[in-house]
Amino acid sequence: MKQAKIVGTGSYLPQKILTNFDLQNMVETSDEWIVTRTGIHERRLAQENEFTSTMGLAAAKKAIDDAQKIPQDIDCIIVATLTPDYIFPSTACLIQHALGINGPAFDMQAACSGYIYGLSIAKAFVENGQYKNVLIVASEKLSSIVDYSDRTTCVVFGDGAAACVVSLEGKGLSIDSVKLGASGEYADLLILPGGGCRHPATHETVDQKMHYLRMKGNEVFKHAIRNMESAVRECLADLHLEESNIDWLIPHQANKRIIDALAKRFSHLSEEKVVQNVISKYGNTSASSIGIALDELRKEGKVQHHEKIVFTAFGAGFTWGAAIVTNQK
Ligand code: ACO
Repeated sequence: MKQAKIVGTGSYLPQKILTNFDLQNMVETSDEWIVTRTGIHERRLAQENEFTSTMGLAAAKKAIDDAQKIPQDIDCIIVATLTPDYIFPSTACLIQHALGINGPAFDMQAACSGYIYGLSIAKAFVENGQYKNVLIVASEKLSSIVDYSDRTTCVVFGDGAAACVVSLEGKGLSIDSVKLGASGEYADLLILPGGGCRHPATHETVDQKMHYLRMKGNEVFKHAIRNMESAVRECLADLHLEESNIDWLIPHQANKRIIDALAKRFSHLSEEKVVQNVISKYGNTSASSIGIALDELRKEGKVQHHEKIVFTAFGAGFTWGAAIVTNQK
């Protein structure tokens, strides 16, 4: 049976930079604290007229181009985001309209694990013949739900978008295995409490800042490492591979300490084979981070023929996942 491949990638980062030094003037923090605890030096912020859909569209156009396709080749759009333009209609529909194409389009919410959940769905769609060219867009305007007076979260998050085209035909990264997980018992540890049907917008919810993201960072941290490692091991077992068969690791760019702790568990990989520069430049961009990292790695031309890349992510829900792909040039 033919295997699904990532045949094109793209990413988009807004131009505006928010440095740790800027944050020092906004909340009680320091560049030293932020760098030591997170590895983040700066992050990008969308302008007022930039949205999840417009950033996603920019990344999507690049991915379609990179796949040597035209928008009309795309027959399904999946958008992974926790910051949609609207609760409805979906951001996927807005992107579909802006691309001027037809076919199904829907949003899928798995927080920071969204790119990997998207890969799993797209792989199933193209391998069972339902669609030919599935566009996955992961895009986040996290600055719209971050409280810039809360030092525990505002230093962490940034805005940005990534996209890829998944297809059976063409050269690219074969999607060999994807494993997903979730554990809803921890929903409260990372949550946007207001704006949904449980707490619709009222003056009170706004006064209580319920429309801002809330995170118990240190609790999330512990679960993240354990679940990302086990998802990677599930993929390895699925393919009857050893750890040593992995050439590159792209962990969700949530925090440099999480990346380092995870890298220690796959200690055959040298430092340059574990992608970690994205967290430093862009902060935690949630669903987009793996796609941005993958796009930059591919464009640098560092991944050799037949090398295997592992992606792994963890996010609100909790949700997590991992995927192993092989470069088929
Ligand atoms: N500057 C200075 N001090 C700070 C700051 C700051 N920006 N933020 C918190 N502190 C203080 C705290 O108040 C606390 O002080 P106290 O001991 O006097 O109470 C102290 O620093 C330690 O706080 P912790 O929360 O324990 O700090 P930690 O080392 O855990 O770092 C961080 C916080 C960076 C958020 C980290 O926990 C983290 O990255 N967690 C994982 C996040 C993640 O992976 N999220 C999942 C994906 S995101 C998604 O799905 C949307």
